[in-house]
Amino acid sequence: MAGGTASLPIGVFDSGLGGLTVLKALQTQLPNESLIYYGDTAHLPYGDKSPATVRGYVAKIVAWLVAQPVKLIVVACNTASAVGIDRIREVAGPVPVVEVVGPAVAAAIATAPRGHIGVIATKTTIGSQIYPRHLHQLSPEVQVVAKATPLLVPMIEEGVGLQTQIADQVIAYYLDDPAFEAVDVLVLGCTHYPLIRSRIEQYLAGKGRSPVRVIDAAEPTAATVAGVLAERQLATPSTQPGRVRFVVSDRGEPFVQSATLFFGQPIELEEVKFES
Ligand code: DGL
Repeated sequence: MAGGTASLPIGVFDSGLGGLTVLKALQTQLPNESLIYYGDTAHLPYGDKSPATVRGYVAKIVAWLVAQPVKLIVVACNTASAVGIDRIREVAGPVPVVEVVGPAVAAAIATAPRGHIGVIATKTTIGSQIYPRHLHQLSPEVQVVAKATPLLVPMIEEGVGLQTQIADQVIAYYLDDPAFEAVDVLVLGCTHYPLIRSRIEQYLAGKGRSPVRVIDAAEPTAATVAGVLAERQLATPSTQPGRVRFVVSDRGEPFVQSATLFFGQPIELEEVKFES
């Protein structure tokens, strides 16, 4: 039975397409694993919804992934990880779940164990206080400044953040803040933000201050998944490149275009909606 389970795909989900940053890291680190990606584009953004609403959305996605079936679920969304993880684990039952906050926090502490850590994320993630709590749990000596940056997700989903000066102005609007002047490490606490990582890095470099290390969850999360698969003997026995299935809850034209732009190659999006 274990061999059979190991051959199943990994389920990955996000509120939209930002989770593709995590999917890409999974593909790079675990090329023979098959993946099912679910982007809840009908309900995006999660980041300004109430925790109860987000928990309602994620319960349906997780139930659907479990029914495919999948062998492991990756919550490729900080907002869902921040406010929905208990509900996600409850619905997932015996299927292991890997979320994105823990790996990002561990990477930040490894980089600056006694440093000054800045976090940017959605309103709901910041409101949950999950980052300061987890950072202080791992290292009580760090100083943490956390800020909601809600304009970034719609800008990125529109594809605007990848190409234009508008992104630079929005980044400056949020980060040109005395509270961020002392940070050694900036955690991108939203799976959409790595898509504008180079612009954020350029902004920070242009400030003429000591270098800031930018951390995002994609690679540490993929490494955590690899660890869980090895520990539970769930790594695929396949020696061929895995297949990837892309599913969204609303297959609108902008999403089709952004998905291709984010993934760096044309992708076919299937639409699966759940009854409300
Ligand atoms: N990708 C989600 C996250 O990591 C944010 C997008 C949203 O607000 O839905 O928090």
